[in-house]
This record gives sequence, structure tokens and C-alpha cells, in this order.
Amino acid sequence: MGMEFNKETFRKDFTFKNSAKAIKRFPFPFYEDSYMYSVNMEPHVPGPNGTVFEPMFDVDEHYVAEMHDRALVLAEDPLRCQSLPHMTLAGWDLLELIMESKARDYPEWFELHKDGHKWHWINRPLGIDQKFTFLDESTLPYGPMEYITRQSQGDFTLQDQRDDNLWIEAGMVTTQADWSLDFDIGMSFHEWHAPVPRAHELGVFDRALKFLLKLQHGAPVRRFNWTLTVDPLLDTSPENYPKWGPMRTDIRPENVGERMYLRVELQTLHRLPRSNAIAFPIRCYLIRFDDLVTIPKWGRRLHRVLRDIPDDLATYKGFLRNRDSLVKWLSRYDDGAPTSAGWMPD
Ligand code: HEM
Repeated sequence: MGMEFNKETFRKDFTFKNSAKAIKRFPFPFYEDSYMYSVNMEPHVPGPNGTVFEPMFDVDEHYVAEMHDRALVLAEDPLRCQSLPHMTLAGWDLLELIMESKARDYPEWFELHKDGHKWHWINRPLGIDQKFTFLDESTLPYGPMEYITRQSQGDFTLQDQRDDNLWIEAGMVTTQADWSLDFDIGMSFHEWHAPVPRAHELGVFDRALKFLLKLQHGAPVRRFNWTLTVDPLLDTSPENYPKWGPMRTDIRPENVGERMYLRVELQTLHRLPRSNAIAFPIRCYLIRFDDLVTIPKWGRRLHRVLRDIPDDLATYKGFLRNRDSLVKWLSRYDDGAPTSAGWMPD
């Protein structure tokens, strides 16, 4: 499985670009022509072939550039990565899960050799060759969670489970849709979800928490979340709001296709074996509207979803001010034809 990794940026000149292959395998999140919050979780099982669901942790053409962007964020703001002292074991669990998964799913790029607790990790795309002792922090350049998540696309949080609740107590968060690890760390499931409209009243969070408390090791689940972003900026954090907030005022009818991006998060949840914590990888995929409408079903469907989404959801997701322009632009790609069920292209 040879692949060229893109040389591209997610800031300043924004040279990020999806290849034709990346567009085709984009995880379009809408199963139908409308959207409302729900407990949308399903088993995270491999396949179908060629989709982002094939491996446990998808590695794509943006891998090397995304890891470079993460390093830039961390150099400016080390608090994007935090782990409370009791979460180190969960960090080792996560490191093991990611290393084993990548070595199994991409043997040409990643290798993991074990001799008892003496481990040898090779990451060819990033040029890393590391021998270390599993569970001995002094043998790695960073703590275990930071070490492995500097080599893994997407954000990661680790939740401790106690008192019939989940507590967000570690994370690597540099590509988030406007929430802050530094603000949320130490909160419980309902506390960190407090700003979300409607979902509390719909009982979504009560049911989701009940389900997660029983999550079993070896049976991960997944769900989608989505929002919209102006330009392919990974780091839309509250910490950097002064940089990206004003970009939303730049949207005009003539630049919608080029500058608006659908931002999809493929979120997975994994029970960890030693710590009993839950790992929550949040993998972000970006697609420019101009590229999205090359798949006719997606163009039609996105038009209908954005046209009909309630104002409080559009406000929370941050695109209410531009919604009319976006819907008008997308309406050119909606001929009114019915769309087939599910998110796969027709
Ligand atoms: C245990 C792992 C999870 C973590 C760490 C997590 C974290 C978050 C955070 C930080 C936010 C943003 C809140 C804000 O505005 O400040 C959020 C939003 C949200 N979460 Fe979760 N979440 C988790 C699991 C779930 C699950 C299992 C569901 C299933 C129903 C869910 C549903 C949602 C929804 C619907 C939103 C609003 C998203 C939007 O409209 O953009 N979360 N979550």
C-alpha cells in the first residue's frame, strides 16, 4: 500500500488539499437528508474496504503534515497536552493500543517488536526508531500518551471511570472544534457537555453515559460529529479564537466553494485493559465545499441538512451568520431528486 504523504499546511497559506482518492473515501456523516442529535453509536468494526473504517486508526495522505502542525501548536501552547498524575497507566494502555493497531494495519510503515517489556517501535513516515521499556516513563522522550499522540492523527482524550461517571483527565487536543482541554480537564460527562443545546433535554447524554459505563475491552464503538470551518484550519480552539473567529466574516457568495469546509469528526471509544479508562480518539477530516459537491448525492444532502437545521444548532456550531449564503450556494447542486439511504456515494 504505497502512499505519498502530502506536503501541505493547515495555517497561513493553507496549501491543504484532498486528492481524488481522499475525496472518494471522505467520511460523509449524514445518513439522511436531515440532522438531529442522537445516541449515534455503532460497533467500530473494520471495513468496508477502501473506507476510513478499514483500519482501527486511519493513516492517510495528510499524516506527516498533520503531525508537523501538532508540533507547532504544542511549541506555542504546551497546555494542549495534559495528563493528571493518576492517568499515566491509561497513557500506556493507549500507547499499546495505537502501536499494536498501526503495526497490524500498516506493516509497511510501522513495526512493533516485543521482548517482554523491552519494546522496539519503528515509525517510517516520521523517521522514528525507538527502543524503550513498556511502563517505564524514563525510557521515552515524553510521557506515554504524549509520545504516541504526537504520532497519531486526531485529538485524544482519556476518561477515568469512577462514581458511575466518566472524568476527562488527560488529553492531546490540538485539532478541536472550539472546546478547550485546559478548561474541561477534571470535568464529568454532563459537565463537559453542558454547552450543547437540546441534547440534554432529549436524554442523549443520559443514555450515552449509561452505555459507555458498560463499554467492554475489545469492543470499541464509533460515532460521527461534524461542523463547518472557514479554510482548512485544524486548530480551531477557543485559545486561538482571535485568529480564526474573524475569518467567518470573510465568507461571500463567490468564495463559499473555495473557503468553506465540512469538518467531520470520526470519534471512537475504547475501553482500556489495565486502567479501565476509556480512550476517546477524535479524528478530524476536512473537505472543501467545491470538492464535496463533486459527489452529487453529498451536494444535494448537505444543502438539505444546512437549510433545515434548527437555528440553535447552527448557532452552537458557529455558522448561523453564514447559513443563508451557504444554503444559496449549495442549492445550485440540489435538483430536488431523492437521495438514497446511508452516506455512501451512489
Ligand atoms: C467520553 C468521551 C467524550 C468526550 C471526551 C466528549 C467531549 C465533548 C466535548 C468537549 C464537546 C464540546 C462541548 C463544548 O461545546 O464545549 C462535545 C460535544 C458533543 N458531544 Fe461529546 N464527548 C464524548 C462522548 C460523546 C458521546 C458518546 C456522545 C453521544 C451521544 C456525545 C455527543 C456529543 C454531542 C451531540 C456534542 C455536540 C457536538 C456538535 O454539535 O458539534 N459525546 N463532546
